[in-house]
Amino acid sequence: MTEPSQSEAPLVEALRAYRERHTAAFHTPGHKLGAGAPADLSDALGERFLTADMGIANGLDDTQESGGLLRRAEDLAAQAWGAERAFFVPNGSSGGLQTLVMAVAGPGDEVIVPRNAHKSLLAGLILGGALPVYVEPTVDDDWQVAVNVPLEAFVAAIEAHPRARAVFVTSPSYNGFCADVPGLAAAAHAAGLPLVVDQAWGAHLRFSPALPIDAMAAGADAAVVSVHKLLAGLSQASVVLARGGRIDVDRLRTMVTMLRTTSPLAAIYLSIDAARRQMVEGGEALWGEALRLAALARTRLAATTGIVVLDRDDALRSGSVDFDPVRLTISAADLDLAGYELERRLRADHAVAVEAADAHNIVANITFGDSAGTVDRLVVALETIAADADAGLAERTRARAAAGGAPEAGGGKKAASAASPTLPFFTRLACSPREAFFGPAEALPLSACVGRVSAEMVVPYPPGIPVLGPGEEISAETVGYLAAAARGALVQGPRDLSLATLRVVTRPG
Ligand SMILES: Cc1ncc(COP(=O)(O)O)c(C=O)c1O
Repeated sequence: MTEPSQSEAPLVEALRAYRERHTAAFHTPGHKLGAGAPADLSDALGERFLTADMGIANGLDDTQESGGLLRRAEDLAAQAWGAERAFFVPNGSSGGLQTLVMAVAGPGDEVIVPRNAHKSLLAGLILGGALPVYVEPTVDDDWQVAVNVPLEAFVAAIEAHPRARAVFVTSPSYNGFCADVPGLAAAAHAAGLPLVVDQAWGAHLRFSPALPIDAMAAGADAAVVSVHKLLAGLSQASVVLARGGRIDVDRLRTMVTMLRTTSPLAAIYLSIDAARRQMVEGGEALWGEALRLAALARTRLAATTGIVVLDRDDALRSGSVDFDPVRLTISAADLDLAGYELERRLRADHAVAVEAADAHNIVANITFGDSAGTVDRLVVALETIAADADAGLAERTRARAAAGGAPEAGGGKKAASAASPTLPFFTRLACSPREAFFGPAEALPLSACVGRVSAEMVVPYPPGIPVLGPGEEISAETVGYLAAAARGALVQGPRDLSLATLRVVTRPG
């Protein structure tokens, strides 16, 4: 076989060949390249998409995978993202993180993890039985978002836990904050530990020098990237990246094959192949344009009364070493609009859909898929909402003044944020997440849970960062936070999604 070249996309080319040969399909799925699909499915997805719906081993490749198509595409991805080995994973970075945590640690092994890690990492700890050593991120009080774990906190945890098996870090964060990954790689390596980076939001970093440094260039031993988040991968498309030495790549491969489906949608993997080639060939120019559009949006929104956009200065002030400007964290708290309400108005009144909303902010992504026109839609919608809300606020203030009342509270992000509780700190781990999750438990009213050990994880979504995990002692602060969270956020994890009750570990005897 010839040496792989970045100008090829083996899976894309294999699909073309399959079509050109008018292959007769006697393999899954049962709709047979769309011929047997219900009309509404063909209508919704397009007949052409269905003709691409097949597996790899028995569709694009033969059943023995003798063409080695997937491996060839993965090797090209490894080269492009600076790794020795890459694995395509069809269950997003969630699946990738679970795979990685179980590849580096077994039952009872300690792993150092940021408290603000994505819930899938905690799921990996529950499934695999490893023990988290949590390190706390700093929190930006103005924006009410977790920033990064300071390097010193990681170093202290590494020193205090000489038996730990790996260090995990999330970078960039959901809001674009970048951790000191080079510093952390050096600290982990000095202790002989691998550094694994959740780079779900950073698949693009490697392809433009104008963006923050990417995990593999910064010295990480493994990383996971969501190709579907900011690149052109189809939803679910992620890649696990690794280099050998501190990571047992053969064990990682075993874990990948244990956890990934035997029938991935070939189109998902094919989209990774195409997105990788697109980035290698033109990533720098594409991201140059996206950065220009993001800067344009930021300038226009800075001139909009009542709208504030989190910027690089905010990130550096709150302890990040770098910032990804294509993530726009936007607040209208100065206009007394919660993030949820801002998102609702954008969607309902302006047909603008953003990535996420929480009690305080919304997050919008700008990529090379945007144009001056799409950025204008977002900016004009926010300008309109801000002007309406500003007029309403002024009207209410006038009415109160006429009635002799005090001026309305608000007028600043801090004032608005103070109304809701701050993120609670981790308390202590009373037993392993796995024991607490699978052991005997009982449901208690939320207020009666203080001092007990949680048997469930509670995750406001988005951004999907657990506030509480199984095995953790429940504090009064956590109960207060959850009682407030239940009023606004969508919550995942507990059996009682209303959070009226919570399952706690049954006390012995
Ligand atoms: C930091 C972080 N890691 C991992 C994930 C999971 O990624 P995926 O949606 O690809 O499963 C997310 C999802 O939002 C995330 O924000």
